[in-house]
Amino acid sequence: MKADINYLKEEFFRKFGDRVKDPVIFYSPGRVNLIGEHTDYNGGFVFPCALDFGTSLVARKIEKPEIRLSSLNFPGDIVIPVNSVYTPLLGSWTNYPVGVINEFAKKGIPAPGLELLFYGDIPNGAGLSSSASIEMVMAVALNELTASRLETMELVKMGQKAENHFVGMNCGIMDQFAVAFGRKDHAINLNCDTLEYKYAPLQLGSRRLIITNTNKRRGLTDSKYNERRAECEKAVELISSHRKISNLSELTVSDLWLLDKCIPDEVVRKRAKHVITENARTLNAITALEKNDIKTFGRLMNESHDSLCTDYEVTGVELDTLVYEGRRLPGVIGTRMTGAGFGGCTVSVIEGEHADAFIEKLGAVYTQKTGLTADFYLPGIGDGARRIS
Ligand code: GLA
Repeated sequence: MKADINYLKEEFFRKFGDRVKDPVIFYSPGRVNLIGEHTDYNGGFVFPCALDFGTSLVARKIEKPEIRLSSLNFPGDIVIPVNSVYTPLLGSWTNYPVGVINEFAKKGIPAPGLELLFYGDIPNGAGLSSSASIEMVMAVALNELTASRLETMELVKMGQKAENHFVGMNCGIMDQFAVAFGRKDHAINLNCDTLEYKYAPLQLGSRRLIITNTNKRRGLTDSKYNERRAECEKAVELISSHRKISNLSELTVSDLWLLDKCIPDEVVRKRAKHVITENARTLNAITALEKNDIKTFGRLMNESHDSLCTDYEVTGVELDTLVYEGRRLPGVIGTRMTGAGFGGCTVSVIEGEHADAFIEKLGAVYTQKTGLTADFYLPGIGDGARRIS
């Protein structure tokens, strides 16, 4: 269900009462990454775009120094006193917004008393940044409600810190960046080292972007993710004995020989190879899109998945089934996993006239091979986090 402002206000009044003082409403999208996976925390390039589904936040300031948090998606409303430091609640969805409130408090910007109602239509744990979306909607709201005028880039960094330190997921900056800076019908070419970025029109003509959810239950994503980060750090350390580097993205494909020379462990070598080749693929894909060469863009998406499967090893049977069965179907230009992996979603570019058959046939073969039912979304590309009412 799409967020409807009147519906959200009505739910807010039902929850918190007092129909006299109107709340304000903020919105933040989810994101899909088109190419450039597991490069952000390695100082590399990513190419995400914001979706036209996301998280709404209905918010109102109150006199009493307490924060009341409620969600239409999750049970477990909580009320906490306004504080100068906050502590996470084990397993609670409220850690995402409260982590952001905590980042503001750390900057000497205490939250006012607040009533907050969240509603999101991003599937949770599907790799479409439902967490970053909650963080950034909270950050944009608090920035306005406290008249803080912090720059969007600052809010992005605070969202990432909330996720790293309060939620405990050691993510890079891509997700918070994409949901904050998204632009309708554009992807964002972001250099995660310098944080320089450029918008690229996503002109797919008659082709469609399709996101397919494996609906695989989230398992060891966070620990495996942190393991990959550690392997990349190990690679940097080993290579630095020969050539001083501070991250893997300082190397290009012409430096791949260095991996054989410096890294004895085959697994670590493969991880580094993925990052270096993925950066090259991402830059080439962006150039291909500029030239309207969607075929090359699709081929690079495919190669990205292959590398994530064999070198980075973050795919698994569900994602691989969707991708490798999907590639056999007519009209498929490119298809790959998106996000952290180990489950979650794939993103595919399909000739428009083949979209319906793709959904039907891939859905059937996926169920037959895995016993799971996939969900398909045909998203639009939307704008970033903002006030909507
Ligand atoms: C998750 C993280 C991002 C990024 C991707 C992989 O979505 O939150 O920072 O590392 O995985 O590209």
